Amino acid sequence: MRWVLAVGLSACTATVPSDDVEDGTGDTDGDRVETGVPEVVERPAFGVPAEAADENDDPDVLEVTLTAAPATYEVGGRTVEGYAYDGQVPGPTLRARVGDTLVVHLENRLEVPTTIHWHGAGAPYAMDGVPWQRDPTAAGEDFTYTFELTEAGTFWYHPHFDTARQVDLGLYGVLVVEDPDEPTFDHDLVVVFDSWGESDDDPHQHAPEGSDLVWTVNGAVDPVWAPDAAGTVRWRLLNASNTGYVALDADGLQVLAGDQGVEVAPRQGGQVVLGPGDRAELGAVASGTWEAVSAPWSLHGGAAWGDPMRLWSVEARPGAATLPTFDVPSRAPTPDPGRTDVTYTLQGDGGSGAWRINHEAFPDVTIATVDVGDDVVIEVRNLSPTNHPFHGHGHAFEVLSIDGVPPDRYRVEDTLDVPVNGVVRLRYEATRAGDWMQHCHILPHADGGMMTVLRVLPTP
Ligand code: C2O
Ligand code: CU
Repeated sequence: MRWVLAVGLSACTATVPSDDVEDGTGDTDGDRVETGVPEVVERPAFGVPAEAADENDDPDVLEVTLTAAPATYEVGGRTVEGYAYDGQVPGPTLRARVGDTLVVHLENRLEVPTTIHWHGAGAPYAMDGVPWQRDPTAAGEDFTYTFELTEAGTFWYHPHFDTARQVDLGLYGVLVVEDPDEPTFDHDLVVVFDSWGESDDDPHQHAPEGSDLVWTVNGAVDPVWAPDAAGTVRWRLLNASNTGYVALDADGLQVLAGDQGVEVAPRQGGQVVLGPGDRAELGAVASGTWEAVSAPWSLHGGAAWGDPMRLWSVEARPGAATLPTFDVPSRAPTPDPGRTDVTYTLQGDGGSGAWRINHEAFPDVTIATVDVGDDVVIEVRNLSPTNHPFHGHGHAFEVLSIDGVPPDRYRVEDTLDVPVNGVVRLRYEATRAGDWMQHCHILPHADGGMMTVLRVLPTP
């Protein structure tokens, strides 16, 4: 299904020079150079990943089957021999409501073991998809994940076994947990970013051969969304890339949420930077033309020189629409208690591919220990020459400060970018016992050793 953009030519559209400007027929069948009409550029239609079908009649249960299997699919016109859930990349969107029970029957039809991790969704220990928490599901075997969805937000799911490779090949999807008390939008659309071809020397990078870096939006390169009428949109963004950052210009949009759903009153946009694993929710009015543009961004220190990149665009009819009001008070961040319970120092460099936390490479790591009921303060210091999106399993964290500056409002995340030479301070109350994985979500860094374990002991 392609959507042909013949008018409203965009920045990336080439106008072919010609000395035959008289022939303005719009004829494009093979003689564009001669006719002098602007070249017609086909852009794919913006589409969202198909939602998984609910197999359960109980309205409070979302029960689905996800089949992980090898799959061949197209990225930017090139063929990728990868993996997929239910044959689609991104995988099926799972859409439930807060309080629902999620039941997912994983059918592993890969030739290798796999697991599913429920990134940010607060899965209980035995359902978190990490190999020491439960054995991976062997090739040809099935396993059923089930747990209660206790928080609203935009979460995602992906394997946590040979993670960099399996995610890169296409195993990921979005888990939307709606809060029925929140206002509704005319459109609620999942937007999954992935990048392809960022490195030649990384054996896990499944780049379309010979191509430059491309970003896909729900699997398509530079798609166009053309709704029939103006309306309000809740964009639910996920950066599922292994290594790439998106720095979206959200001027004129509302920032509704980060990783963990709506926590405070929405704020006016600005730049929204999504490292690998990050999510954000934006409220927008689709009226007329709008382009989603990512600024040039470097892993080695943020804003960079270069051309901005269009990710997708909207071509809506002009019209009036008003964003709904979220009845959430703003809230000040918790004052920093001024002590540190756990310190993680991020070290390494791309040259050696050796990435460390506190000088240690997973699995040979010292396990920090806290107790259920503790107010835990974690400080993450980045001493390496690249940014790292720090992700903690088990508990989402409040951001106390970034480089000593508290956020201007209460902010809860499960994945937070730690800039080069930066220091972030995080806190949460430990409520769930277990050996919870903590790692960089640049997945080749995690594979290279930048992972550790935080042990939360049950109180006797
Ligand atoms: Cu999204 Cu430990 O992972
Ligand atoms: Cu990293």
